[in-house]
Amino acid sequence: MNGNDLPPVRLAHFSDIHVSAPECQWRLRDWFNKRMSTWLNLTVLGRARIFQHTDRILAALRPEFKERNFQHLVFSGDATAMGFEAEFRRAVGLLGDSMQLPGLAVPGNHDYCTRAAMHSGHFERYFAAWQQGERVDEAIYPFAQRVGPYWLVGVNSSTANSLAWDARGQVGKVQLGRLEQLLATLSPGPRILVTHYPIWLASGKPEKPYHGLRDLKELVSIAQRGGVVLWLHGHRHDAYYHPHSQCVPFPVICAGSTTQQGLWSYHDYTLNGSHLRAVQRVFDEASGLFRDGGKFELQLPNGSEPPAGVDAAREAAKLT
Ligand SMILES: [Fe+2]
Ligand SMILES: [Fe+2]
Repeated sequence: MNGNDLPPVRLAHFSDIHVSAPECQWRLRDWFNKRMSTWLNLTVLGRARIFQHTDRILAALRPEFKERNFQHLVFSGDATAMGFEAEFRRAVGLLGDSMQLPGLAVPGNHDYCTRAAMHSGHFERYFAAWQQGERVDEAIYPFAQRVGPYWLVGVNSSTANSLAWDARGQVGKVQLGRLEQLLATLSPGPRILVTHYPIWLASGKPEKPYHGLRDLKELVSIAQRGGVVLWLHGHRHDAYYHPHSQCVPFPVICAGSTTQQGLWSYHDYTLNGSHLRAVQRVFDEASGLFRDGGKFELQLPNGSEPPAGVDAAREAAKLT
């Protein structure tokens, strides 16, 4: 129990499942946009091979989600490989009855692989069950869901990009304004931000310029002012976390990819007041089941000052 005698909250955080489908409908324009380079990466450069066990892993994930008594699922984006409707259909099909559990989902850059994919609304339609919540001006993003005493706040940090090597994201001024308003008007309760894009790499260094969030500094500043106590994200396929620091006064956790060969895992969180206990549940190729991996505990801020002393790597990685 926490200070308010509320029971702990159990969350599952998974990400970057990158489901592909055999029956994608290519259009002429797709041969001249980002889809072409993504497809080359998948086929010629062998990225598809590292996701070859996706179906099997998602089949093992469904009973996990049911049997471990999660109150809420958090999906931080990249449901698909190339943002095709057939891939969304397949992703939701493979998640099966997990889609009936309460959840929150935000899109990743692969879900918005092209401008047409971004404007199609496929992500929002297929994941509509996990996009219910409080909103500002009925805009899709951001949105907030109450889970016990906490508020989960989903922000769309993904955009379509044209150039093959460009994997940047952007929240945008308009959504940032709505986020500020939403955080200010939600009823009291710790706010947990969910985006696709990270703040830092596992090393504590910033993302490469072509892989990061264009307006990260503005988003961090709004999150900080709005009482965010924890930031959950994906995009990076290795799982890691950073405790709060002088750069950002809340912990940041990357779920990593749930389905990429060798990295395959998701996070199991137990939140109790300002305490978070996390267990990395790792897919075991031999048994086809998930087992406990690393564990860590974090203290969420409680309106207090960030702790003194920040490690050198994070200090060096000052947000730009
Ligand atoms: Fe990804
Ligand atoms: Fe991504």
